[in-house]
Amino acid sequence: MNTLPDAASILVSGGAGYIGSHVTFALRRAGFAPVVLDSLVKGNLWATEHAVAFRQGDVGDADFVRSVCDEFHPVAALHFAAFIEVGESVEKPDLYFCNNRDKAKIFFQVLAAKAVRHVVFSSTAAVYGEPLAELIREDLPTQPINPYGQSKLEAELALRALSDVHSVALRYFNIAGAVPSAGLGETHYPETHLIPRLVLPLIENAEEVRRALGLGGGFKVFGTDYPTRDGTAVRDYIHVCDLAEAHILALRYLLGGGATNIFNLGSGAGYSVSEIVTAARKVLDRPDFTPGIAARRAGDPATLVADSTKARTVLGWVPKRGIEEMIGSAAEWHRTSRYCQTVLGKARAARI
Ligand SMILES: NC(=O)c1ccc[n+]([C@@H]2O[C@H](COP(=O)([O-])OP(=O)(O)OC[C@H]3O[C@@H](n4cnc5c(N)ncnc54)[C@H](O)[C@@H]3O)[C@@H](O)[C@H]2O)c1
Repeated sequence: MNTLPDAASILVSGGAGYIGSHVTFALRRAGFAPVVLDSLVKGNLWATEHAVAFRQGDVGDADFVRSVCDEFHPVAALHFAAFIEVGESVEKPDLYFCNNRDKAKIFFQVLAAKAVRHVVFSSTAAVYGEPLAELIREDLPTQPINPYGQSKLEAELALRALSDVHSVALRYFNIAGAVPSAGLGETHYPETHLIPRLVLPLIENAEEVRRALGLGGGFKVFGTDYPTRDGTAVRDYIHVCDLAEAHILALRYLLGGGATNIFNLGSGAGYSVSEIVTAARKVLDRPDFTPGIAARRAGDPATLVADSTKARTVLGWVPKRGIEEMIGSAAEWHRTSRYCQTVLGKARAARI
C-alpha cells in the first residue's frame, strides 16, 4: 500500500504539452502535487495552470533538473517531454535521438542521483514497428521503423537499466479527446493526428485555423480495401482522460512497491476509420459528411490494436470513454478561442 501522503510532489516533464497537461490535471484531482518542468519548446504556459508549480527548463540540463529536485523533493517523476512527429524524425534523426533519448538519459540519471526512485515513462506503439501480430502484446519484439520509435525505445531501455529506479513504461497507441472545462485540449502545430484533422474541417468557426494548419483539403480515408470488418484500417484510440487515469494507477503501483514493468494502453478492439467517420457524422451533426477516398499509404498496416490485458489485470485500468466522447470533447476544444489563438500564434511565429 502507498503509505506516502497523497500531496506528495510529482515531477511532470513535458507537462505543458497535450498529454502531460491532462495528466497534471488528473494528478491534482487525485490529491498529488504535480510540479511541471517544461522548456516550452512545443508546449504552452496556459497548459500548466493546474500544476502546483511550473519551472521552465530543459530535461537535458542536469543543473536545472537537480535544482528542481532540491526545491520540491519529488517522490516520483512522469516523463512526457519529447518530440513526437514521426515524419520530422525521419528528416532530422539527430534532433530526435538528442531530445528523446540523450536528454531523457540525463533526466533519468539526475533523478536516480537525487533518489527519485519511481518513474513513469510515456512510451509508444511506435516501438513495435510493423508488428508481427494484429493484437499487440508487450512481449512482441520491438523493431521500430523510424527514428521517433527508435529514440523512444532507447530511452525506455536506458530507464530500465537503472537498477535503483523502479519504472513503468506505458506504451500508448492513439490518444484523442480533451477536457475543455479545464481549459485543456490537444494543441499541436503542426497537427498530424487523425481526430483533430477530421474534426477541424467539420466545425463552423475554424476557417483561419484550418488554413494555418493546412487542412483546407478536407479529410481523406486512405484505403477501403483492407481485410478488416469494413475495409478501412483499424487503429486503437483511447481518451486522454482514460490515459491520465492509467498514469495515476501506474504511479500508485510504483509507490506501492510494484516492480519495473511495461504496459500497453489501448481500447482492446480499436476503431476502423469508417467507424470514426460515422461517429463524427453523428456527434457533430453532419449527416451529409462524405470524406474523400484515396489509395492505401505504403507501410500502413490493416490493423494496429493493443492487447491491454496486462494493464487491466495488474493496474486495474479500465478505459471508459468511447470514440464519440473523444470526438465531441475534441470538437468543443477546437472551438475555443484559447485553442484558436494559440494555433494562430504558433503559425505566425513559424512564418517569422
Ligand atoms: N500524442 C500521442 O498521440 C502520443 C502517442 C504515443 C506516445 N506519446 C508520447 O507522449 C508524450 C507526450 O506527447 P504529447 O502529444 O503530449 O506531446 P506535446 O508535444 O504536446 O508535449 C511535449 C511537451 O514536452 C516539452 N518538451 C519537449 N522536449 C523537451 C525538453 N528537452 N525539455 C523540456 N521540455 C520538453 C514540449 O515543450 C511539450 O510541452 C511524448 O513522450 C510522446 O512520445 C504521445
